[in-house]
Amino acid sequence: MISASKDIILRQEAYAFSHEAVTRHGLTIDEAFIRGIRHIGYRSNLHAIAELIDNSIQAYAQRIDLVFGYSDDGSAKKPNRIAIIDDGHGMPAAMMRLAMMWGGTHREDDREGLGRYGYGLPCAAVSIARCFRILSKLDRAPIFEVCLDLDDLELGSYRAANGLISLPDAQPAELPDFVSQHIQQHYPQGWRSGTIVVLEKLDRVEWTTALGMRTNLLRHLGVTYHKISDLAALYVDGTRVRPVDPLFLTPSADYFGLDDDRAVPLEPVTLSITNPASGRDGLVTLRYSWLPPTFGALDKTRDAVGLNANQRFPILKDYHGIIFSRNGRLIDVQNRLPWTVFINNDRYIRVEIEFSATLDELFGVTTSKQQVSVTAMVWDALRQAGIHKAIEQLRGKVKQAKSFRFEAVSRAPVPKPLAAVVQKRCLTEQAPKAAAPLHSLLVMDGVGGLAANQAHPLFNGSAGAMACAHALQKLVNMLANQASSTGTRAKDEYGDLLTAWCIAAWPDQPDV
Ligand SMILES: Nc1ncnc2c1ncn2[C@@H]1O[C@H](COP(=O)(O)OP(=O)(O)OP(=O)(O)O)[C@@H](O)[C@H]1O
Ligand SMILES: [Mg+2]
Repeated sequence: MISASKDIILRQEAYAFSHEAVTRHGLTIDEAFIRGIRHIGYRSNLHAIAELIDNSIQAYAQRIDLVFGYSDDGSAKKPNRIAIIDDGHGMPAAMMRLAMMWGGTHREDDREGLGRYGYGLPCAAVSIARCFRILSKLDRAPIFEVCLDLDDLELGSYRAANGLISLPDAQPAELPDFVSQHIQQHYPQGWRSGTIVVLEKLDRVEWTTALGMRTNLLRHLGVTYHKISDLAALYVDGTRVRPVDPLFLTPSADYFGLDDDRAVPLEPVTLSITNPASGRDGLVTLRYSWLPPTFGALDKTRDAVGLNANQRFPILKDYHGIIFSRNGRLIDVQNRLPWTVFINNDRYIRVEIEFSATLDELFGVTTSKQQVSVTAMVWDALRQAGIHKAIEQLRGKVKQAKSFRFEAVSRAPVPKPLAAVVQKRCLTEQAPKAAAPLHSLLVMDGVGGLAANQAHPLFNGSAGAMACAHALQKLVNMLANQASSTGTRAKDEYGDLLTAWCIAAWPDQPDV
């Protein structure tokens, strides 16, 4: 076992020992507390489940499984249990009851990892289910279990003779059938150590079918954990969660190479901020990208609506605004900033603020770690680091690319007399600059002219491509004739026109 895991287990034991004689002095009315805390306000089941995944990651799990259990009547449409299984270091039996309690944590106010409050596990569990159990196993030790059933709590089953609520201590236990079946199938070495949280009596599940649950979890967990996906392999109902970078800048993440469109990055910016509450410094990194207008579309000549939306589109829609990520884990997306609001068009600009948990107070991180409330001090620091300008720059790029595409598409079907078009554009507006250099599609022909670049992938020998190549060559020749009689400025204009024409002809080729 790695020594970091041993350290944690020792700390858990010490913590459990020091809390052995925890007595209640009446800070809460237990049943009322539970009723209220069930509505702590996780935005969705997904945010609650992420708390349990955070815990598994922090226990150095290599594999984390979300598994569904079904009722005995054979219906596999809607699960009646959910288990989060990990193969981390597990918990000592004495820690398990504390883990089930609100406030029980061996990592009080830790800023290195994901958890720090001691609320995540029980809050997440009761936000979805009326009953949850924790099973845990240290290496070469038996399995223990603790369970909290809110119905039994209401019935007074946990009340001791002195009138106080007393949660039973961990007991040796067997794995539930659906969990042990899953382990048999997917853990060839067996389950040596780890923790399993089983949610039962599911009364607050948002998704009506297992399919809906699986699809949503796969999509969103891929985004939530994309930066730390190499820490543990995460599976939902047997399917591996693939990382999805919502800025589409990570080549190894899904949808980066879905088609030939690519996100365009701006230079990231890192700044250090001191948290006045603790005197500790923390890093903040700003990442930016903008997307070509066709980025979310299947057929690049049409808008990304309805059936023409590709797999990227839901990500553009769901993660629309500034994305906040804390210690590598996405926690919030906000589209209302103090100085601007992200409108629909802004889906094509992507901004992420990654911050260290040492700055939690400044980012107003809530106990459920699903929301930020950024302080004025941080906004000021971000402004100085250029966030306002960067957002405007990204908006400018998207606008330019859109108008360029619009011109290209509207011009493409009916070729207009070139001289007239050039003249009109010279009079009315500055020509938009090409999105990418022309020379990848065109090359100098050795005698000072332009020719279609036969090495370009467009001219790959297929019948359609060759027809395009010939059409392009014809246009090039025509332009060359015109340009020779009209000087350099017109040459630039012709260049822009040609680029627009190419984009219309091959909208999915980013380097045209
Ligand atoms: N999967 C797990 N493996 C090992 N220990 C765990 C696991 N899940 C929870 N624990 C233990 O239970 C404690 C309580 O977990 P809980 O999620 O409630 O709080 P936390 O992670 O410490 O802080 P936060 O409220 O910020 O999540 C943890 O501090 C840890 O000791
Ligand atoms: Mg936690």
